[in-house]
Amino acid sequence: MNWRGIKILFLLGCLKVSLMDTTHAFPESDLVISIITNGSYSLLIKGETWLMNSPTFFNIDGRTFSTRDKTLILEEMTVTSGEDMLGKWQSTTFHYSGGRHVKVRIDAVIKTYYEPDLPFVIFSQKYLNGANGTKALDRAQVVGGFPGFNIESKKGTLGYLSFGGFMIGDTNKHIGSWNNNSFYIRDGLEGGPLVLFNQNADTLIISPFSQFMTSSVWHDGLYGGSVYWGIMGDVESVPPNFQYDTIVYYANGISKAFEGWGEVLRKWYNRDDAYVKSDLTINYLGYWTDNGAFYYYNTEKGVNYEQTILDVKAYTDQMGIPYRYFQYDSWFYYKGLAQGIKTWEARPDVFPDGFPFVSNKTLLPAAAHNRYWARDTTYAKQNGGMYNFLLEELKGLPLDEVFWRDLFTNATKWGLILYEQDWLNVEFRGVPSLLNNVHMGRQWLMLMGAGAKATNIRIQYCMANPRHALQALEIPVVTQARVSDDYGPGADQWRIGISSMFAHAIGLAPYKDTFWTTEYQSGNPYGINRHEPYAALNAAVSTLSTGPVGPSDKIGATDVTMLMRCCNKDGLILKPSRPLMAIDQQLIKAAFPSFSGVDGEVWTTFSEISGLKFGILLAADIKNTVPVVILPRDTGIFRVNVSVVTCSFF
Ligand SMILES: *[C@@H]1O[C@H](CO)[C@@H](O)[C@H](O)[C@H]1NC(C)=O
Ligand SMILES: *[C@@H]1O[C@H](CO)[C@@H](O)[C@H](O)[C@H]1NC(C)=O
Ligand SMILES: *[C@@H]1O[C@H](CO)[C@@H](O)[C@H](O)[C@H]1NC(C)=O
Ligand SMILES: *[C@@H]1O[C@H](CO)[C@@H](O)[C@H](O)[C@H]1NC(C)=O
Ligand SMILES: *[C@@H]1O[C@H](CO)[C@@H](O)[C@H](O)[C@H]1NC(C)=O
Ligand SMILES: *[C@@H]1O[C@H](CO)[C@@H](O)[C@H](O)[C@H]1NC(C)=O
Repeated sequence: MNWRGIKILFLLGCLKVSLMDTTHAFPESDLVISIITNGSYSLLIKGETWLMNSPTFFNIDGRTFSTRDKTLILEEMTVTSGEDMLGKWQSTTFHYSGGRHVKVRIDAVIKTYYEPDLPFVIFSQKYLNGANGTKALDRAQVVGGFPGFNIESKKGTLGYLSFGGFMIGDTNKHIGSWNNNSFYIRDGLEGGPLVLFNQNADTLIISPFSQFMTSSVWHDGLYGGSVYWGIMGDVESVPPNFQYDTIVYYANGISKAFEGWGEVLRKWYNRDDAYVKSDLTINYLGYWTDNGAFYYYNTEKGVNYEQTILDVKAYTDQMGIPYRYFQYDSWFYYKGLAQGIKTWEARPDVFPDGFPFVSNKTLLPAAAHNRYWARDTTYAKQNGGMYNFLLEELKGLPLDEVFWRDLFTNATKWGLILYEQDWLNVEFRGVPSLLNNVHMGRQWLMLMGAGAKATNIRIQYCMANPRHALQALEIPVVTQARVSDDYGPGADQWRIGISSMFAHAIGLAPYKDTFWTTEYQSGNPYGINRHEPYAALNAAVSTLSTGPVGPSDKIGATDVTMLMRCCNKDGLILKPSRPLMAIDQQLIKAAFPSFSGVDGEVWTTFSEISGLKFGILLAADIKNTVPVVILPRDTGIFRVNVSVVTCSFF
């Protein structure tokens, strides 16, 4: 049957209550999806249209087929229902083709759950017989767009938060007004979840629901225009039966939306939090030597790294600082082409007696850094090694789980417990097969995770784009992720209240990175003028983050009294029940400058003990010139005006 002929009969418009299966109202929430049988759709919140679809399109055989110019043909529309782990669902499927001479068939599906009534919509693209010649004009685009929405807000009533860049999308995130002037919508390889909200905190979160490494968001247009979700732009062909899904999640409350959205994702991917709970580096204090640390590519005067590490250990023992592990950064291993990793072992100039000797002396387990694989890595068969590697341009990519298992097993000889995979974004962009193939990205991270699981190693992601962080939903041994740019004395990278919302939602402990506990530490590698005016703030943010707490002071320079507020005498971090996170008001104020509310960093968390919630509020860098009142119900912790105990760290 050709549905195009009778589309008018099935036109539903924006009916709030459905007579047909194609409009779904959510009795529990205020979200309505309206679907028209000609392929159009829109999302309404509390009766107001927030999002209207942009034309659906797919690249096939080097051409773009779009509903805009009717080259993408709607062959049929069908309605189906079923049940899965989330509940009973119903779906509307638009069956598209490129016409008689193109054999490609792609289904665009809109799915909702009605029992229980769940406040989200899943949009799916299904390439039934695959497609060739899909590559987009630019890698920042997508090879097919569904869903796609127009960026317009008639009354300028919506704001947005767009994650982008690395450190799970913190470094380039933007908060702005959603209208035809919207410019900073982060997209392409570095793009991430998009959050829309109004001043009443009604919120939609839009993100990939599957194929995290392979999907992108694309802002089509410089100002305003459309925003699309689909497969990333460099993909040249899509295999048969490939499916990509996007979720649009609604809640009244921005933090509530993050919580609910993350819960659905974690449930769908059965993410087990046991690895986070049992991660020693998340539970106990550790000593760090990464960028920002006093001993980052810097040793004590006249001695090597081995002696420096042993001296740090002696000093901290003497002061009674209960470090439970040491982190070793990129200064310890062999580098190859383009400063990539050649051999992940300690160089003799660094540790003349070997890494096992050093661990044996410190008697502490190790967290160790690694970066992108160099093309001349000694592990690759092509270079005389034992393992299958893909070598492209200047980089390498391990192809087997056994490689990771051997790497981690070998490293347990020097006490490895946490593998820090840094430069994830650079490895990703540097290997063309990770960009033009729909399976390689996921395979890379899944193999690393499987190797870590088999050897009881935990993983920290660093310089992760949002896609890497989302992929960790399927890799529970990835327990933590860096959520702001590198520390440096005086660096403004403690502002993790927003990125922690994202990390926590998907089950990752947010890591602020290292810090100094005292202001001046002479002889540091960053320059004579560098100092840390906010040591206590850094310590408080780290402690309340629920991620690692990892100072990096010069020998003799630790403020032990201040630092030890983080932990008990065994080094156990006294962390709250969930990370410190920005309150809704902070985001609303950032998007709507005229909103009367707090202008600055206001984050809350709580400790739940025997059913009692003890609230904690951190406010910093407040720009308001008149006092602002934050009521308990504004904190995102208490629904009503109850009496609370507010604890201060300082
Ligand atoms: C579907 O119908 C609506 C309402 O008439 C119209 O605005 C929209 O452009 C149509 N969409 C397509 C893809 O033809
Ligand atoms: C894509 O190309 C492959 C290899 O040439 C071919 O076997 C397959 O049928 C093509 N698929 C489609 C959907 O055109
Ligand atoms: C953007 O919207 C404003 C008001 O809603 C309108 O006056 C203006 O013409 C629009 N600009 C574009 C480029 O569509
Ligand atoms: C570790 O220390 C023990 C006891 O001192 C010693 O027997 C062993 O050889 C050391 N191992 C290494 C690798 O240094
Ligand atoms: C592990 O150690 C063995 C023995 O030294 C070595 O042959 C192998 O290359 C190492 N593999 C990795 C991945 O480190
Ligand atoms: C909470 O207290 C504020 C200020 O006193 C008041 O305006 C508000 O109505 C109260 N809310 C509730 C739910 O009691």
